[in-house]
Amino acid sequence: PMLKEWTGLEDLGSDLARILGIQEVKVVASSGDGDGERIKDRMARESAEFLAERLPVGATVAVTGGSTVARIAEYADLCRGKKPRFIAARGGTSGEAKTQANMIAAALAAGSDGGWTPFHLPESLGEASYRTLLEEPYVREAIELYDEADCVIHGIGNALEIAGRRGTGSAELESLIENGAVAEAFGYYLDADGREVGRILTIGIRREQLGRVPLPVAVTGGKDKAAAILAYMKQAPPATVLVTDEAAAEEMIRLN
Ligand code: F6P
Repeated sequence: PMLKEWTGLEDLGSDLARILGIQEVKVVASSGDGDGERIKDRMARESAEFLAERLPVGATVAVTGGSTVARIAEYADLCRGKKPRFIAARGGTSGEAKTQANMIAAALAAGSDGGWTPFHLPESLGEASYRTLLEEPYVREAIELYDEADCVIHGIGNALEIAGRRGTGSAELESLIENGAVAEAFGYYLDADGREVGRILTIGIRREQLGRVPLPVAVTGGKDKAAAILAYMKQAPPATVLVTDEAAAEEMIRLN
């Protein structure tokens, strides 16, 4: 399709929201970006402003890891007065500390003068430990907390990039490629239609729980992530709010 000229980023956002079938899209400028860091920073700020406006007081907020969501903590002071409580959307301890969900939840709580509930578990589990851990009261309580979540803030990644980040074995990697894995979110690998084609065994918010969260917020951008974001949005909860950047937004419309 021919790319039209948008009169502003708000226009672009509302067009994209309609195309994706989600509640709202917030678009930040892509200009002046060298390495993606400035875009992440703008998306983080936009997200914090959005939360400051829309979070109910005393909200329970589940967060995933990743470098984009991590940035929001730098603007958490905007949510002071909301008394939010944060929890990791998945149990996890691996990866760089700064971009790990529990660390982000703690940083968001510190910055907003809120609370946080730790949820420390290995990120990727074996079958046997996965089943055993599901019986643990500590784990059950965390999972029940997801039923009370007012908001979930999450990242979206390129499937193969995230699989690489996780040191995924070659057999599993091949299966992901064969099955057309495009996107990753919440530990699930998705194909271009948003169907699950793989997952890491992890304990966290379940898909049916996510569908009941009043305010799911995806924070992700960069032109190279456009296909992944499109794929995720194919099956995303309609209440989803996407915070992204101009380059990703235009590329999504072009690909659609
Ligand atoms: O690993 C946690 C996670 O939220 C993934 O589900 C997601 O794909 C990724 O991080 C996004 O990370 P980044 O914002 O660094 O691209």
